[in-house]
Amino acid sequence: MTKRALITGITGQDGSYLAELLLSKGYEVHGLIRRASTFNTARIDHLYVDPHDPAAKLFLHYGDLSDGSRLVTLMSEIRPDEVYNLAAQSHVRVSFDEPEHTADTTGTGTVRLLEAVRLSGIATRFYQASSSELFGATPPPQSETTQFYPRSPYAAAKLYSYWITKNYREAYGLYAVNGILFNHESPRRGETFVTRKITRAVAAIKAGQQEHVYLGNIDSIRDWGYAAEYVEGMWRMLQVDEPDDYALATGVGLTVRDFLETAFEHVGLNWEDHVRFDERYLRPTEVDALIGDPSKAAEKLGWKATVDGHELAKLMVDADVSALENSGRPWIDTVKLASWGHE
Ligand code: NAP
Ligand code: GDD
Repeated sequence: MTKRALITGITGQDGSYLAELLLSKGYEVHGLIRRASTFNTARIDHLYVDPHDPAAKLFLHYGDLSDGSRLVTLMSEIRPDEVYNLAAQSHVRVSFDEPEHTADTTGTGTVRLLEAVRLSGIATRFYQASSSELFGATPPPQSETTQFYPRSPYAAAKLYSYWITKNYREAYGLYAVNGILFNHESPRRGETFVTRKITRAVAAIKAGQQEHVYLGNIDSIRDWGYAAEYVEGMWRMLQVDEPDDYALATGVGLTVRDFLETAFEHVGLNWEDHVRFDERYLRPTEVDALIGDPSKAAEKLGWKATVDGHELAKLMVDADVSALENSGRPWIDTVKLASWGHE
């Protein structure tokens, strides 16, 4: 029997890698996408096959986590074996600007989807994209048993989602799990997260299109892994007999400064010549250090990260250098982003 999966957030970084993984495993994949005035499917366009083609295995449906009745309808139409809830307003800094919207999408959106699963009566396995941001101010190493201390509207919304997922598991016997994922990046990472902002800037500076990149706090520590490996961990969480919660991480922390050094050195540049401070990129409350302990996932799921933060920085720089060389695109995007807001 062909397994069927529904992915919310399929147009995002993780959604695109997960869709690839599930299609390669023979799944029929359904994705929730938001209606936008421009195309927002660039990360999955290479997977798309005309739905009229009998070989089509990927189907997209308009919907939004703010629209509960739509989620109920989709659950009964698609009848998925597995639901991966990856959709969210996922930017921590932006959540300080849009706390209410973040709560509605990143928090309440989860219970809307869980209700849709419960009301459908289908024996669906549910994955919730929880986050190491939940640990916030609690010092590393952090694992499934570490106390939560959220430090942003984003993390507070994810905390609600974590507990409501656990509650539906306990209250209704739903197969529902939390993947507590530490930062994971890739060439598909959103352009305003710090790693991608840096690697795009390295490519543009190397090409002579830009002189400086403006950043906030470069002393914070993150446990950066490779997104393509993390989606494998998500899938494995739904394949074990009993639902449980798992942290995925490399176990190694780097500062933003370390990432900068590796990324710039990779193309023969010195980061100190090109990085400038701009306080607009600071957060009202910062998360100083996230370093995960992934031993439970290693033991119970056989999952292990193999790409470390330095390797990741290099592969992202390589991808951005070659993207720039191939498209010859001017660096207008980042200039605009930098002057618009607080990312
Ligand atoms: P991302 O690239 O920002 O993708 C977010 C996705 O959510 C996009 O497809 C976006 O659609 C969709 N979305 C946003 N608001 C929505 C709404 N109201 N209704 C329906 N869809 C909506 O995020 P990511 O890095 O892939 O992360 C995936 C999930 O894991 C997120 O929940 C994130 O918070 C969580 N997480 C990420 C990391 C990490 O390091 N990447 C770590 C821990 C947890 P559009 O394309 O239309 O904007
Ligand atoms: N975005 C950004 N832009 N961050 C900057 C900048 C900048 O110009 N300058 C310094 N930073 C610092 C931030 O203050 C933070 O300490 C660190 O770089 C990482 O920021 P982000 O890349 O925006 O990621 P994040 O750690 O806040 O959140 C990501 O990881 C979480 C898991 O721990 C997101 O993917 C979240 O969705 C995810 O839950």
